[in-house]
Amino acid sequence: MTLPTTPSPLAVRGLTVALDGRPVLRQVDLDVSAGEFVTLLGANGSGKSTLVRAAVGLVPFSSGTVELFGTPLGRFRDRQRLGYVPQRSRAVAGVPATMHEVVMSGRLARRRFVGWRSKDDLAAVEAAIARVGLSDRTRSAVSEMSGGQQQRALIARALAAGAELLIMDEPTAGVDHDNQESLAELLAGLVAEGTSILLVAHELGPLRPLIHRAVVLENGTVTYDGPVDAVRDPEHVHVHVHSGRPEKADGFKGNPVGGGQDA
Ligand SMILES: Nc1ncnc2c1ncn2[C@@H]1O[C@H](COP(=O)(O)OP(=O)(O)OP(=O)(O)O)[C@@H](O)[C@H]1O
Ligand SMILES: [Mg+2]
Repeated sequence: MTLPTTPSPLAVRGLTVALDGRPVLRQVDLDVSAGEFVTLLGANGSGKSTLVRAAVGLVPFSSGTVELFGTPLGRFRDRQRLGYVPQRSRAVAGVPATMHEVVMSGRLARRRFVGWRSKDDLAAVEAAIARVGLSDRTRSAVSEMSGGQQQRALIARALAAGAELLIMDEPTAGVDHDNQESLAELLAGLVAEGTSILLVAHELGPLRPLIHRAVVLENGTVTYDGPVDAVRDPEHVHVHVHSGRPEKADGFKGNPVGGGQDA
């Protein structure tokens, strides 16, 4: 007998992607369980962005499967359950919209029909903007905001939509320590409310204590999947696995994958 379980927000199996005829991801598995905070690490060009873009349906894959909340990607319709914050350079370049408009666009994704924005929509937008600490920039053009502020505006957009899985591609890159601290505080609050998070990062900084599990990509394949403590130097992603099978008190098991070129 199997007990009913909450479907994983994200389950990627055997994902293989080629771009311009060149293999970029090979047989990648990646899971984010309900309420879990997973970080995806790897050197420049290892395929992190391609993986998260494929997972949200922005990049086609040649083989493998992606399920969001238990539904195959091709049949997934509840877009508002998924909040995707792209890597900065791709995010909002050239978009003349104000932050209020960008965040409201997340709110409108919840609707089946186009209609007048309601009081609830406005309240949700204002609450989301306040939550990322940008209330004083509500009417600013997003294109004129700093990279870190743009990233926060996109997080606010996902929050306004009520996202249950937040996928962020390097929100900490080029962000100063104080802003990393505020991001950590914001994400800690979301995790406490049950939001699941997949975060692509180079350096973890103040986010490290929040993270349940780390997945390391090297050259398009997963070489480590386990506790973040074993990843001592995320900047260069050298994995040092302790003797025996690492296991955290909260029960997430560590699985060094593929025999480790690093061992
Ligand atoms: N549109 C594209 N067409 C062809 N090749 C691409 C494309 N996008 C990415 N690549 C290649 O795929 C590989 C993985 O790129 P990707 O952007 O996924 O890496 P990344 O791990 O996110 O790197 P970074 O840390 O620099 O963001 C790289 O070799 C890159 O050059
Ligand atoms: Mg990237």
